Amino acid sequence: MHHEDPHYPRAHLRPPAHWINDPNGLVFHDGAYHVFFQYNPGGVRHTDMHWGHARSHDLLHWDLLPLALAPLPDGEDADGVWSGNAVSLDARVVAFYAARRNDRWWQPVAGAVSDDGVRFNRMAELLVEQPPPDTVMFRDPYVWHDRDRWRMLVGAALADGRGAAVQYVSGDLQHWDYVGPFLAQHPTALPGGGNTEEGWECVQFASLAPDRGALVLSAWDPADGAAGTAVYLGEDCAETFEPHVLQRFDYGPDLYAPALLHAPDGRWLAWGWVWEARDEPRVGAPSAWTDEVGWAGMLSLPRELTLTEHGLHQAPAREIDRLRGRQRLEIGHAVALDEEVEIGRLGRCADLVATLGRTADGAGAAGLRLVMSADGREHLDIRLDAATGDLVVDREAASTDPRAKRGAWRVPTGVPAGGSVDIRAVIDHSVVEVFTSAGQALTMRFYPTGDAVWRLRAAGTGTGRAPLAVTAWDLNPLVIESGRRHLGTKESAS
Ligand code: FRU
Repeated sequence: MHHEDPHYPRAHLRPPAHWINDPNGLVFHDGAYHVFFQYNPGGVRHTDMHWGHARSHDLLHWDLLPLALAPLPDGEDADGVWSGNAVSLDARVVAFYAARRNDRWWQPVAGAVSDDGVRFNRMAELLVEQPPPDTVMFRDPYVWHDRDRWRMLVGAALADGRGAAVQYVSGDLQHWDYVGPFLAQHPTALPGGGNTEEGWECVQFASLAPDRGALVLSAWDPADGAAGTAVYLGEDCAETFEPHVLQRFDYGPDLYAPALLHAPDGRWLAWGWVWEARDEPRVGAPSAWTDEVGWAGMLSLPRELTLTEHGLHQAPAREIDRLRGRQRLEIGHAVALDEEVEIGRLGRCADLVATLGRTADGAGAAGLRLVMSADGREHLDIRLDAATGDLVVDREAASTDPRAKRGAWRVPTGVPAGGSVDIRAVIDHSVVEVFTSAGQALTMRFYPTGDAVWRLRAAGTGTGRAPLAVTAWDLNPLVIESGRRHLGTKESAS
């Protein structure tokens, strides 16, 4: 089914069928990267959440392992093993997750331990049973080691309308003491639109420099659900966090629940959940189209996070460069903006780097048009806005299927007239992840209908001539293998 779906990705990680959402339990253990994820092994709807599991030594070859965690009938997680993270300790993986039961509004923190990195046993007791006072939402633990103790953040909404990350500490990973809100903020406007909302899911913390940390959150609206992603950069004052800068984590419409992995070489990696943008009335709601194709969601490319003078910087993990195959095209010149010029063909899984410039008088700017149907009606545009210099990624005409979501999203680049912006775009059948050289990211889904060969055109806006350079490669698929026992059957759950 899904393999015939022209929208099924090849360079993005996911199991062959069914529903996935958040990356969970990201940990480097026993020489391998472990990526767990929210997974419904029985269907394509967001329900009955398990932890799926994939493991890799190089981020390119992945083994799908048996389900790591399954809801226990009548147990504390009877209605879902929800999101959390994991740590590697003394040859074991210790996982922390949000235990879902439909008969309570909060999700206590539960734990599970694995001796072989594959099979998990639940800890006997819940680790945090009750939410702290004055919370109205509470889920998704994130545990890390800091000096002589373990620290845990949990996503929350406070009764006074603030989104929050609340903190606990422990000496043994079993007994946790409540410290208080690490950070709590009223909804605050984000660059590029939206705000940090009244509830925070999947809070994550990275100490990116000795005195600077990044608090990553997924903004959740009590009425509308998943809204967007944000990151506060600031100072870790142990009990609390002093925010200095608020940034959007991803400028696109389709990435949520980013989660972090601290690699042994010191790198901070992140994966996000890239959801569908088909005919669901809202994120996670049933979709007839998704029912038809039998799969939903994927993980983003692994991204490397660093701190620069621009703040948090994201780029595809360097391993992804090794998926580059045949170079398809390379151009570099100034283009006239009043006509579309054919650049060359592009595969459906492609990696391209480009420089897009603005004219010196500010009257025009360069752009790229990925033409996906023979008649040219279906196209995805990546261009600079002639008037503002914003980078615009536009799927308004990417599909003639009326069910596909539309719209255009922008990244504020601040590039002046006469200047140019360097970008990289990884395109994979129905998803594009665009990165600026300043480290901003934009993730978007699109659903072209035709089976035409894809072509790239120079398609600027305004008048004059603007700089344009492009190099593109075919991207080879990830190698994703199912291990000894097949993933996707309930019987394989521990
Ligand atoms: C975020 C989220 C988490 C929750 C999980 C359930 O997408 O809502 O807060 O633990 O998904 O699948």
